[in-house]
Amino acid sequence: MNSETPRIVVTRALPPAALEPLHSVGSVWVSPHDRPLTVDELHAAVRGASAIISMLTDRIDDDAVAAAGPNLKIVANTAVGYDNLDVPAITRRGVLASNTPGVLVDATADLTMTLLLTVTRRVAEGDRLVRSGTPWSWDIAFMLGSGLQGKQLGIVGMGSIGQAVARRAAAFGMDVVHHSRRPVDVDGSHPLPLDELLATSDVVSLHCPLTPETRHLIDADALRAMKRGAYLINTARGPIVDEAALAAALADGTIAGAGLDVYENEPEVHDDLRRLDNVVLAPHLGSATVETRTRMAELAVDNVVAVLTGKDAPTPISVPSS
Ligand code: DGY
Repeated sequence: MNSETPRIVVTRALPPAALEPLHSVGSVWVSPHDRPLTVDELHAAVRGASAIISMLTDRIDDDAVAAAGPNLKIVANTAVGYDNLDVPAITRRGVLASNTPGVLVDATADLTMTLLLTVTRRVAEGDRLVRSGTPWSWDIAFMLGSGLQGKQLGIVGMGSIGQAVARRAAAFGMDVVHHSRRPVDVDGSHPLPLDELLATSDVVSLHCPLTPETRHLIDADALRAMKRGAYLINTARGPIVDEAALAAALADGTIAGAGLDVYENEPEVHDDLRRLDNVVLAPHLGSATVETRTRMAELAVDNVVAVLTGKDAPTPISVPSS
């Protein structure tokens, strides 16, 4: 490849087989670090790049795009969520942004149900008890959890992941309601205003994107508005929930429990949450299956190959006009 060869920057290792198609369209640099790049490392790495394959841990803002320079054609985010991209800034500089929708719907919905079951049936708490060697024995009132049948699940954000969760919850015998930015018609679920959904749901599950409007959507007031004894599940983005307010609500019994996969200052987790027994904490595993992560990498690569060969990107980010 000569000096005209497009430089493709991959900010963190992806499955080598998924990266294969990139080698026929450019010279590929993959970060050698087993951690996110620092801002300085990212800006140095992207210099002269025609394409960046980014992770949700990279902040791709105007400075990053400026650091890349005029060759940059695409930022392909290896995630469906793209709150780490400054899409208006990227677009202003004539660069296309893409994400990986669709391929992680089932994995994320499965993990949502995993957290829901784990917290309502106290599985992680039980696991800690057994491992601790504390004596225990079966007894009619021992470690009782909460059943799901006939309970109401309130889904906030009824996109494809919310809908996949709704299908699974219905199979568990739950009644489903939802609150969504845009009206959506989903069999077996009816829309509710957010305050009504919070006041009536036994479990609230978050599936909306992180935007200025949804940051701290679930704050102390929203938690107080939830039904007594309800549970909160978050597999969307951490900052949608005010983590300090959640820790307080879990500690004083305002809500019964929570299942979290994402955190406000990821990978940091609020100290109080780590001390509480009624919250299940997963390390952002929503899409973490071999099959799904491979498809995400392949889709990011497909977007880059398409753009560098003058074709339409399969999954460009289309920003809803305000
Ligand atoms: C996404 O794609 O946005 C998920 O959070 C990745 O697990």
